[in-house]
Amino acid sequence: MMDQAEKLRMLMNMKRKQMKIVTVTSGKGGVGKSSLALNLGIALNRRGHRALIIDTDFGFSNIDVMLGVRAQYDLMDVISSRKEITDIIEVGLEGVQFISGGSGVYELTKLDSPRLMRIVESIISLEAISDTIIFDTGAGVNDNTLRLIHASHDTILVTTPEPTSVVDAYALLKIVNEQGLRPNVNLVLNRVENVREATSVMDGLIRIVEKNTEIEMKKLGIISQDANMLSAVKEQVPILISYPYCTASSDINQMVNNFLNIPAQQRKKPGLAGFFDRFVMKNGMAKG
Ligand SMILES: Nc1ncnc2c1ncn2[C@@H]1O[C@H](COP(=O)(O)OP(=O)(O)OP(=O)(O)O)[C@@H](O)[C@H]1O
Ligand SMILES: [Mg+2]
Repeated sequence: MMDQAEKLRMLMNMKRKQMKIVTVTSGKGGVGKSSLALNLGIALNRRGHRALIIDTDFGFSNIDVMLGVRAQYDLMDVISSRKEITDIIEVGLEGVQFISGGSGVYELTKLDSPRLMRIVESIISLEAISDTIIFDTGAGVNDNTLRLIHASHDTILVTTPEPTSVVDAYALLKIVNEQGLRPNVNLVLNRVENVREATSVMDGLIRIVEKNTEIEMKKLGIISQDANMLSAVKEQVPILISYPYCTASSDINQMVNNFLNIPAQQRKKPGLAGFFDRFVMKNGMAKG
């Protein structure tokens, strides 16, 4: 007889379409993760890749506010059987989907097998309605963020050109490396005022990461400092919608084009199946 883990894998492998999961993270806080996650969602949706954003920042990410929706429930309501997964999806501007993870993402790692099975079965139904899941994390390092970085097919690491932000980004990667995790990291430099300086900051960070860790990191894009970004937050309309032709918006569009050109990761098992394998079952994650 199949054990539950086996049954779970079989169930997940039955889905043919392979969803892509990406985590947006940073060392230092306030560098633009949530803005990026949100606009990545909008841009992917416009290009025909249905995006679902999940906020894992215990409700502090404000993505719901920025997207013009108000989340009443979160993943905890699904875990505690109060709601179905489809009940907690909010649909925001331009049809971008949003789930408030609340503390639920973390709780997933603590469930016993039968309860986990039930939740995973319902989460798998998301593959029918979205193509990309974007996790927006809080700042800094915790077990939850490390698991997401490990489990996702791609990680987007955001930093500003400020030395404190760059040092914290490097510190995060050092921890990831020491944990034995080998994510595919894509670097975004945000709030850039001088492109030449930004390019040299990126090259410098990539060089030191290459030298001192086993993590592969590539440049994904540069986003200009742009006052419209703050106006967009105030207006609760993502910048790609409110100021589609401003500098930051064209930078974001360029970044998203680069994102879509990232080749499928050979080393990571695809889809939600692969993601859950790594996230919950800690497959390949260093012990301790
Ligand atoms: N390119 C930019 N130009 C100008 N302002 C920006 C830019 N990117 C982000 N900001 C501003 O920086 C502030 C922080 O952005 P955001 O909330 O996206 O950061 P965060 O990394 O998610 O923060 P936290 O770590 O608190 O979750 C916001 O007020 C946002 O408008
Ligand atoms: Mg945030």
